[in-house]
Amino acid sequence: MKNMKKFVCLLLAALTVFALCACGSSGEKSALQEIKDSGVLTVALSPDFSPMEFVDSSKTGQEQYVGFDVMLAQFIAEELGVKLEIQAMSFDACQTAVSTASVPMSISGFSWTEERAENFELSDYYYAGENETEQVLLIRKADADKYKTAEDFDGVDVGAQNASLQMMMVTEQLPNAKAYTIGDIGVGVLELQSGNIEALAVAAGNAEMIVDSNPDLMVCEWEFDVKAEYEANVVLITKGETELLEAVNAALQKAYDEGYYGVWYEEAVELAKSETAMNLTIEDDASNG
Ligand code: ARG
Repeated sequence: MKNMKKFVCLLLAALTVFALCACGSSGEKSALQEIKDSGVLTVALSPDFSPMEFVDSSKTGQEQYVGFDVMLAQFIAEELGVKLEIQAMSFDACQTAVSTASVPMSISGFSWTEERAENFELSDYYYAGENETEQVLLIRKADADKYKTAEDFDGVDVGAQNASLQMMMVTEQLPNAKAYTIGDIGVGVLELQSGNIEALAVAAGNAEMIVDSNPDLMVCEWEFDVKAEYEANVVLITKGETELLEAVNAALQKAYDEGYYGVWYEEAVELAKSETAMNLTIEDDASNG
């Protein structure tokens, strides 16, 4: 009888240890394993940044998300042997979603920055076309003579997207301007056109697309000074997910070797110039609240 009791106790203890281990190991399942098991790669992006990511308004559902990064995301999903699911959200929310691991990665025209390198796993660089080599200010054509130098923006409202490289550049390189945060680039363009802000900081490739569809705007003569490390883009991955990082880097290398980057960029630019291209406004309380 006494032995029996001892046996039950030991059995219970063993079961407890087993249950804890099982629980622990399933909690530690890597993001890559989870993607493979579920057969779906979820990628967050903010489709307000043509030609990298934007919306084709002639389509609906997943099909509506287009651009360079969408083609890249599709390629990565194929390399992993899974289906791609795009989750559209504001640029700020993309970063929160990856850091809280609610999605494993975001491909949304991210430049490498020191701060992001600390908070995320960042992929190797991938090609960003003419997009990131220059960072510029959009102004109204009517103000061409008014805004020519950095000093011309002293005391003036200059818009930039929340949590973006552009916002960092405005605060560092135009310290006397009044930095004005916008959640969505499409909204920033409207605020510039309506006179609510005097300039909008954007990447040059993006500026080209915006001017193409908004002939009342132009690129200011004065440009930001861009550090070499900001000139290409990276994929943002949840911190610690190194297996996924390696798989993404392998896919990037393959896309580069097979010469896809140039082809994708041209295709994206062409589509961005079409009538149905839209830089979608994402209503997102997470970024405004
Ligand atoms: N390259 C800039 C950055 O890293 C802007 C990217 C904006 N992307 C977007 N989808 N709105 O901050």
